[in-house]
Amino acid sequence: MTLPRSRDTAPSAANDDTIAKRYLAEMTLDEKATLLTGDSVWTTAAVPRLGLPSLRMADGPHGVRRTPSTGSMAFSAHAATCFPTASSTAATWDPDLLREMGEAIGREAIALEVDVVLGPGVNMKRSPLCGRNFEYFSEDPYLAGRLAVGWIDGIQSLGVGASLKHLAVSNQETRRMSVSAEVDERALREIYLPAFEQAVTAARPWTVMCSYNRINGVYASEHRQLLTDILRSEWGFDGFVVSVGAAVHDRPSALAAGTDLEMPGPRPRRVRSVIEAVHAGVLDEKVVDEAALRVLRIIVKASATPKGGSFDAAAHHALARRIAAEGMVLLKNDGVLPLATGGRIAVIGRAAKEPRIQGGGSSQITPTQVDSPIDELVRSAGGATIFYSPGYDDEQHERPDLVADAVAAAADSDVAVVFVALPVAKESEAGDRTDLDLVPQHVALIRAVCAAQPRTVVVLFNGSAVVVAPWIDGAAAVLEAWLSGQAAGGAIADVLFGATEPSGRLAETFPLRLEDTPAYLNFPGDGDRVRYGEGVYIGYRWYEARDLPVAFPFGHGLSYTTFRYDHARVSTTSFADVDGVTVFVDVTNTGGRAGSDVVQVYVRDVEASVQRPNKELRGFAKVRLEAGETRTVEVRLDPRAFAFWDVRRRAWVTEGGAFEILIGSSSAAIHAVIPVTLVESATNSSTLTDMSPLQDWLADAAGRPGALELVQSLAPILGGVFGKAVTDPDDLDPHFHSYFSAMPIRDLLEFAAPAGGPEPEARLLELADSRRTAVSGHASDSPAFVGTRNG
Ligand code: BGC
Repeated sequence: MTLPRSRDTAPSAANDDTIAKRYLAEMTLDEKATLLTGDSVWTTAAVPRLGLPSLRMADGPHGVRRTPSTGSMAFSAHAATCFPTASSTAATWDPDLLREMGEAIGREAIALEVDVVLGPGVNMKRSPLCGRNFEYFSEDPYLAGRLAVGWIDGIQSLGVGASLKHLAVSNQETRRMSVSAEVDERALREIYLPAFEQAVTAARPWTVMCSYNRINGVYASEHRQLLTDILRSEWGFDGFVVSVGAAVHDRPSALAAGTDLEMPGPRPRRVRSVIEAVHAGVLDEKVVDEAALRVLRIIVKASATPKGGSFDAAAHHALARRIAAEGMVLLKNDGVLPLATGGRIAVIGRAAKEPRIQGGGSSQITPTQVDSPIDELVRSAGGATIFYSPGYDDEQHERPDLVADAVAAAADSDVAVVFVALPVAKESEAGDRTDLDLVPQHVALIRAVCAAQPRTVVVLFNGSAVVVAPWIDGAAAVLEAWLSGQAAGGAIADVLFGATEPSGRLAETFPLRLEDTPAYLNFPGDGDRVRYGEGVYIGYRWYEARDLPVAFPFGHGLSYTTFRYDHARVSTTSFADVDGVTVFVDVTNTGGRAGSDVVQVYVRDVEASVQRPNKELRGFAKVRLEAGETRTVEVRLDPRAFAFWDVRRRAWVTEGGAFEILIGSSSAAIHAVIPVTLVESATNSSTLTDMSPLQDWLADAAGRPGALELVQSLAPILGGVFGKAVTDPDDLDPHFHSYFSAMPIRDLLEFAAPAGGPEPEARLLELADSRRTAVSGHASDSPAFVGTRNG
């Protein structure tokens, strides 16, 4: 049997499954086990006997790193477009643009004969210190998830697979292969998993890559709950899970947990360990079959995309430039930008000639070309005269001579543009930063130039937040250029001269100081344990909860034009928890030129029964407006926008009550607040047990009537305790609240059951019955609560 090269029927999941099953049926245990470990660094094993080809993977996520040989891990690879890194693409807040980028990477993968590109990365930026933050989108899971969906939809629409990574809770590089992220269940569900969940459920990536680290003590590669219960059973993932590098420690255990394919290879010992485990009866052959089938389905699917040919490098470079420009964030501007195309401009800093376009490590792309910012500035400058001064050397030595030269050039010009970059070593895979500072020589240079030239613009190359406080006051404007790929130079010229409106918005908060950051006391942990003590409070959730001032808030970004928000409204101010709501706002471009703004919609739970962040991003829309134009922006909020993860029910819960919908242009610039009421359906009531305190029973829509009745029937006894009659707990003496309301309902019954009255056990059953009826509309045999003390 050989794989059909061209099909007479259109590819479909059902076809792939049928063909994959036919392969599986013909494969020996040895062949199946061999398929589940790489054949080389980048390929799976072919089975020539059956005509089964191998699958080729290559790194991403901001381009295709296709090494010349399948056995090589080298960073130098075939030339491919180096697109902006996630630090930059996230700031576009534009999933459609990410989709275009995914499509372009897909075209390059096809030309380079790659079946699956390893990306995107959706880990949270828990601390700005993580050395790999440039590869991750955001501190907010909703934003990261939406962008990942765009990227994956794009690449997979061309028949090339994505590998969503790194599942999960991989938020630091320090001891990344051994550290255990000790994270609580709510933070896991509300912060660290939702971007994966959104990407898996909405975009169905062909593969998911597990992370190196442990999660609460268990290696991600062996985490059955994560890889099987959550990823497959809950989210419906039907591709394969791949581990790369040294993520797998015990191959049979990892396989049983859900890690289908281990890369790289060849590793005959690994293959043998699987075969031996099956023979020894430790591993069910069915597990091997299921994993092999998942890999086979993707091989079959990938083989339906003919590979080879070439790609349009010039068109992709132009796309990289457009994306880079859209992602640049104008942090500050006192009016010096956009630059006039005339006069004298001093361009200072070696980074103007040698821009930093990407981070270090496995994502490194060999670019097809690299724009030089200074050349691009010269090209865009019209009649302006440009002077260059290096400002610093590449060794980070103090160079007073270079600073003096730069100061002279700045003083002698109408405007100065200073380019500075964080050193590569600070932002590379396998290492974290230890501070958020710019290089001291660069700070000294900026200060000296700003002192000599008040019209100084600072351009930053970095992949995650930096501290700006020591120098920003002197700068007239600051452009955050991120690590934005091979066309960064052209994009910077576009934005500085105003050919492109700066429409990037921060996908991460810029703190004032490292000491203010959420994980400051818990990063990178003690030895092999890092405690996620801040729980769900990362990024803006943290700064707002602690009321800490920041340098630039999440969502911030200036424009060359101005916008006004009017008539913020919702489809309904009272809605059921299963329905959600639609938000509308009229946005007007009140300035004199075209521009884009990002309408951000946050939700606040006003009366939550658990501690929740002050506000959380639940929707957004980027809108481009001509000068004077008004458009109505519409953002849909589904029920999940109001939910939290209830650790008792182990489920998402939308609690009835008051919420606020906040509409703004950053987490700090809120233009409208709309109060809404969410009506909770009785079926959504929380789980109560016989050991739940009275206050929980009273707070539960279905439990309250029975609990009230109980309290009233116990009134004489409760009243006796406090020396007065008790009929309604809401009217009670404060002692009632502090004493009885905290008492588990079973204990309350034991405590206050009247002599000669029904036994507490019987009363508990009555209570359960009345709640069950309220929940389902009829009494049934299933327990309304689960006894926790007596079975
Ligand atoms: C990295 C992945 C990368 C893989 C292959 C791993 O060490 O964590 O992001 O895709 O290597 O290079």
